[in-house]
Amino acid sequence: MLAWYDANKRTLPWRDDPSPYHVWLSEIMLQQTRVEAVREYYARFLAALPTVEALAAADEDVYLKLWEGLGYYSRVRNLHKAAGQIMTECGGEMPRTAAELRKLAGIGPYTAAAIASICYDERTPAVDGNLLRVFARMTGYAENIKADPAKRAAEVYYMDIFPAERCGDMNQALMDLGATVCLPNGQPLCDQCPWATYCAAHAGERETDYPVAAAKPQRRVEQRTVFLIYYGQRIALRKRPDKGLLAGLYEFPNASGRLTREEALSYVESLGFSAVRIRPLDPAKHIFTHREWHMTGYEVLADEWEEFRDGKPRDHELFLAPAADLAETYSIPSAFAAYQAAIRTDYLG
Ligand code: ADE
Repeated sequence: MLAWYDANKRTLPWRDDPSPYHVWLSEIMLQQTRVEAVREYYARFLAALPTVEALAAADEDVYLKLWEGLGYYSRVRNLHKAAGQIMTECGGEMPRTAAELRKLAGIGPYTAAAIASICYDERTPAVDGNLLRVFARMTGYAENIKADPAKRAAEVYYMDIFPAERCGDMNQALMDLGATVCLPNGQPLCDQCPWATYCAAHAGERETDYPVAAAKPQRRVEQRTVFLIYYGQRIALRKRPDKGLLAGLYEFPNASGRLTREEALSYVESLGFSAVRIRPLDPAKHIFTHREWHMTGYEVLADEWEEFRDGKPRDHELFLAPAADLAETYSIPSAFAAYQAAIRTDYLG
């Protein structure tokens, strides 16, 4: 496997300089995001926040903006929190063992094992989806691969066969094998696999029967109506609550349900705007882990905004942003990407 890795490993930016901070950041970004999508975010994040110290000192809006579009924002909140822990509790040095790393916010068994093996050659398998799939095919593991026992069985299997040295390379070899040869779903490329002769699934020509997965839970479908409201060369934004879905990020005002034009107008009025024009926008969809948003939208031009009623803001979190702040300051999650793309920058100052 290591010889295969030496000949076939992917060129990845964090492999050039595998400092603990770099490996940590890359592993967190890669948890829910493809390698190709991560490359650019990784470079930009490190250019802005090159050290643990800089990350610990960064403002929320800064690190959220660097994460904009990657999704699963709790990942970057935990990165920031853990950077604070490293500065205050670990003397500014990242811990060197998987057991110590696991005490940091957002670092679970997989990430701790990846950092400790890649940076310090700790002999510990980093069991992610790739290692699980390789394990399931190698051994013909017939139980649900998503359940906890599968992870434990994979750890036992790998601990038995891991080398005494180059354990970081071994983990990354298996990740690369899973990503480029022992492919999920479709047909794995067994003629390129260094382990094909030892593989139970391959021996039985049953590669595609493994891993065994339980049925996915159904996602809840929610209808939403999203508003691009222009007033005085600015556009209305709202900060989301600090808890729950997309916590603390910015959004275009939106309401539950698929509003008709009349309902949309009264919603806009409830925010204090007087609309001079309202126009429907194309529908869009966004898929989260446990829910789907099916959205419609309206573009609204307003010539008045009564921000206050009876001396109080109608909506404490609503404000107007110029085009420059939209691009540079406020992190708007990808769920709204279709509407963000529909913004008429010529309406903004
Ligand atoms: N996926 C997650 N971490 C990885 C790594 N270090 N190498 C290759 N693929 C990965």
